[in-house]
Amino acid sequence: YSARYYIDIVKQNGFPAGEDELPLYGHFRDDMMWSTATASYQIEGAWRADGKGLSIWDTFAHTPLRVSNDDTGDVACDSYHKPDEDVRMLQNLGVGFYRFSISWSRVLPDGTTAHVNEPGLRYYEYLVDALLQAGIKPLITLFHWDLPQALQDVGGWENDTIVERFTQYADLMFSRLGHKVKHWITINEPYIFTNIGHGYGAAAPGTCTTPPTGRLRKGSSPSRSTRTGLPRNPHKQEDYDAANRYVEFQLGWFAHPIFVGDYSELMKTTIRNRSLAGGLPKSRLPEFTPEQIQRINGTHDFFGFNHYTTKLAFPLSYGNLQHYDADRGTGTVVDRAWLDSGSGWLKVTPFGFRRILKFIKENYGNPPIIVTENGVSQRQMDLNDTLRQHYYTEYINQALKAYLLDGVDIRGYTAWSLMDNLEWATGFAEQFGLYFVNRSDPKLTRTPKVSVQTFSTIIRCNGFPD
Ligand code: NOJ
Repeated sequence: YSARYYIDIVKQNGFPAGEDELPLYGHFRDDMMWSTATASYQIEGAWRADGKGLSIWDTFAHTPLRVSNDDTGDVACDSYHKPDEDVRMLQNLGVGFYRFSISWSRVLPDGTTAHVNEPGLRYYEYLVDALLQAGIKPLITLFHWDLPQALQDVGGWENDTIVERFTQYADLMFSRLGHKVKHWITINEPYIFTNIGHGYGAAAPGTCTTPPTGRLRKGSSPSRSTRTGLPRNPHKQEDYDAANRYVEFQLGWFAHPIFVGDYSELMKTTIRNRSLAGGLPKSRLPEFTPEQIQRINGTHDFFGFNHYTTKLAFPLSYGNLQHYDADRGTGTVVDRAWLDSGSGWLKVTPFGFRRILKFIKENYGNPPIIVTENGVSQRQMDLNDTLRQHYYTEYINQALKAYLLDGVDIRGYTAWSLMDNLEWATGFAEQFGLYFVNRSDPKLTRTPKVSVQTFSTIIRCNGFPD
């Protein structure tokens, strides 16, 4: 692990003067996978249709005060009833891939293969066929946070039997769709759903515990997300170290065991020291056995990567051990000059994208990378979404720099999201869509925003021709 390397690229501001700001002209690989994404709970609706079982998000959203405005995914974008419309939108965009997720409780209402819900399965079979007919390849996420409620009732991800359940569910989907679908993502953003759903309870299942230090038990190509951490003060070594811990505790938590083997030394030492200083007898980070380390290491076909924004890191002195910020010893701020989006956590910071892509290349053995999400939100309905046009242009151009100038093996890029949808606990207020969904029209009509043209032009040119 070369912590040193990350420090160096940041210290020299990374790249030759001007490269951050100037556009780069050129193309991605000929077979670049251009894609856009959604997730079942965020778009499907039909929460009880045709024998679907409840998921933890149905329960969570039906609990008062959990989701802004008490929005729910009961109807969402009603995509369950509109597969043809969704496919037409994708065709219009010109993407070669579509990333969507399966609602586990739609196909297995109680989470187990004891009862397979055929009508639910038929929806996905229909969608897959319609996509293939339109020349679009599916990229399927098996778990995008909507765990069957029945499995949560017996402990969910904290009960080891989930390994068996998830395997059976995955096998079922592979047996039904595997001959047609060649690209799969096991788990979406393990860091986010464990921390937000189980750490401080702002997402389903809404439990608050001590910070989770759990393991990715099985499954090989999750889609990890991370924010780029840069030093708050570029003249301070301790800020570089803090930035390094920031990245290591988000990305490295799941990537290091899979791409290098075991948790990183940095993560192990940091947590051990802080646990002992906090009066615990040993590190709060569970240890892998040697054969677990071996079994997990190398279980990947590509590096699935979601990315949105950058933070400035500084050291946080030892405080309340219950909070993961204290565990990693890093606080973060943002620069006031950075452009805002419709989400408090998301500032427009294209320069961070190239840096983190290069970090992945250098630290995880130059894996093939599929960017599985990238995008920006707005709160105002605005068909001429200049912020999004700017965001996609700048971020994709930084990805091109990573590919052409730094030799990062970028195989795919996915825009989040195809259409405005339910942004989890913030409801419908934060709109990430390339298409506007008119929620005051019972037909939930979809209208392209101007960013559809921006993105489809980049796709058609496979980059930025001069
Ligand atoms: C991460 C998640 O995977 C997705 O579901 C969410 O809507 C976007 N990022 C935007 O926050």
